[in-house]
Amino acid sequence: MLRIRPAAGLRELERPERRDYFRFRVRPVGASLGALVEGIELANPCDDATFSALVQALQDWKVLFFRDQSLDAERQALLCDRFGLLSDDTLVPRTADRHAEDISDMVVVFTRDATTVGLENEWHGDGTFRPMPTMGTMLRAIEVPEVGGDTLFADMSGAFMLLPAELRRRVVGLTAIHDWSIGAYAAKYGDRLDALRAAHPPVAHPVVIRHPATGRPTLFVNRLFTREIVGLRADEGEELLAALCGMVDLPEVQVRWRWEPGSVALWDNVACNHYGANDYYPARRVMARTTFFSREHERLLPWTDSGCQASSPSRVNS
Ligand code: SIN
Repeated sequence: MLRIRPAAGLRELERPERRDYFRFRVRPVGASLGALVEGIELANPCDDATFSALVQALQDWKVLFFRDQSLDAERQALLCDRFGLLSDDTLVPRTADRHAEDISDMVVVFTRDATTVGLENEWHGDGTFRPMPTMGTMLRAIEVPEVGGDTLFADMSGAFMLLPAELRRRVVGLTAIHDWSIGAYAAKYGDRLDALRAAHPPVAHPVVIRHPATGRPTLFVNRLFTREIVGLRADEGEELLAALCGMVDLPEVQVRWRWEPGSVALWDNVACNHYGANDYYPARRVMARTTFFSREHERLLPWTDSGCQASSPSRVNS
């Protein structure tokens, strides 16, 4: 089994650049991703300078956290519409025409309790089975269990940089197949699986992408939707894919967020994998989610630069 562990005394995890955002303060929550944003009320109309600062902070920190927000569905939709084209994130996604409709319909409120099973407890990026996945997600807590129901995020450019150098060289240029129907997500569509599979076939993405906004090399695989690596022998491909998807298990690349009512997380869906811990049964958890597509990028491009071959902080055990 291919097992990748970062070496002791890890030095190569890239820290976000510390800068002044002027319109708000940020406090790091994780080592290489995740910052708590303070001094901003998201329900207020967001001027251009504040919005640009939020975009910059999201690129720097990959996931932004906010406490005690009074957003409602309308304000959440209006703010996310600034980041991209709103989608209802179903298998056949509907996108919003902000000039023609009430875009607060695009905020999906989902409840998990003793009768509704959660599907969020597997590491994934939202909709990576699409030709162009959504670029970002905003999740707002309405009702949270007394304990449990945290969301975990993993930094996928950190995951790439922690691969041993020879493995980085091996995976750059590879392509993987993403398929919505291989895991728990398919349960939503169980009664129409064959017809939907035919209508929405798997898609291919580079295993290492150049992040569309930041240009960072980013590992783009996840356990929920990535089915196979193209062109490798089945056993070799399975072992490699399991090892790459398993990078999210390293605490070094994770941040964990404890929800309170009114908390908000805004994440870069291409830069992170996430995992909703399903440890609160039979308590209730009610969340409001908005996802958005890029208005500029239509597909994910491969990372090609050979400059990613710095000496390795990791080791491989076979
Ligand atoms: C999601 O997977 O999109 C939601 C994660 C969560 O509910 O914590």
